[in-house]
Amino acid sequence: MSTKKAVLGLKTVLWIAALLPAAWLARGLMQSDLGPNPIETLTRVTGMTALVLLLVTLAVTPFRRVTGWNPVIKLRRPLGLFAFFYALMHFSIWFVFDMVFNVQYMIEDIAERKYITVGMAALLVLIPLAVTSTRGWIRRLGKKWSTLHKGVYLATALAVVHYFWLVKADTRLPVLLAVCLVALLLVRLPVFAPGGTSRKGREGRRGGSSGPTARPAGPSEGEAPASVGQGVEDDVDAEGVRIG
Ligand code: HEM
Repeated sequence: MSTKKAVLGLKTVLWIAALLPAAWLARGLMQSDLGPNPIETLTRVTGMTALVLLLVTLAVTPFRRVTGWNPVIKLRRPLGLFAFFYALMHFSIWFVFDMVFNVQYMIEDIAERKYITVGMAALLVLIPLAVTSTRGWIRRLGKKWSTLHKGVYLATALAVVHYFWLVKADTRLPVLLAVCLVALLLVRLPVFAPGGTSRKGREGRRGGSSGPTARPAGPSEGEAPASVGQGVEDDVDAEGVRIG
């Protein structure tokens, strides 16, 4: 199978899988079948989906490094944007049903409940990342874009804390998700990258040498423009986009 076909197939699977929770919620709403507390179900499903998608977004680069299959990077933008979509829905459900559109209540709740404060902070960090996830912004921001998009780690960490603080008894799942996040952060350390901290290894990651994960030296089909990819960051997407 050609790489193009494989990426298209994976993107199709991703779209279907990512839209399933929303479709399930929509069906439940229409059939009044979301359990005894539909608002809680809506909040929980959207929150959990956003968090899992954030972690999967962060797993794309380690996966690429381990497998050497670079086209997987093309899934990162849709993953990140789906995570943002669910986070926004999650927030909107809380604002509409819990806060009944009242900005005063909203400010009070953000100030009073610390898990809401960090949840809000996570969402605020994600907003500029989603807005600047286009090719035009990557060109405009240059190196700053890469630094900005590292914010996805901060947003995910805040979301994990948000989850940890809101659960009352059984903290096993938030702890497990925190462990996943720490593992994903650790594998980004240069020492775990192919070639370790050596210059050759770094060049390999930037496309300056050969190796399973090396990028070609020059721009090729579907790659980031040279002005962006070169010297910005090894993880700028093949489409020139990165959220994660
Ligand atoms: C990136 C942003 C966010 C993520 C990933 C996220 C994730 C989560 C998760 C995983 C849960 C627990 C779901 C469960 O119990 O199964 C949750 C619950 C909740 N979140 Fe968020 N959240 C985010 C932002 C926010 C924001 C901005 C607000 C409101 C300002 C908010 C309000 C809530 C509320 C009210 C609950 C339910 C608490 C309960 O069940 O008692 N979250 N969120």
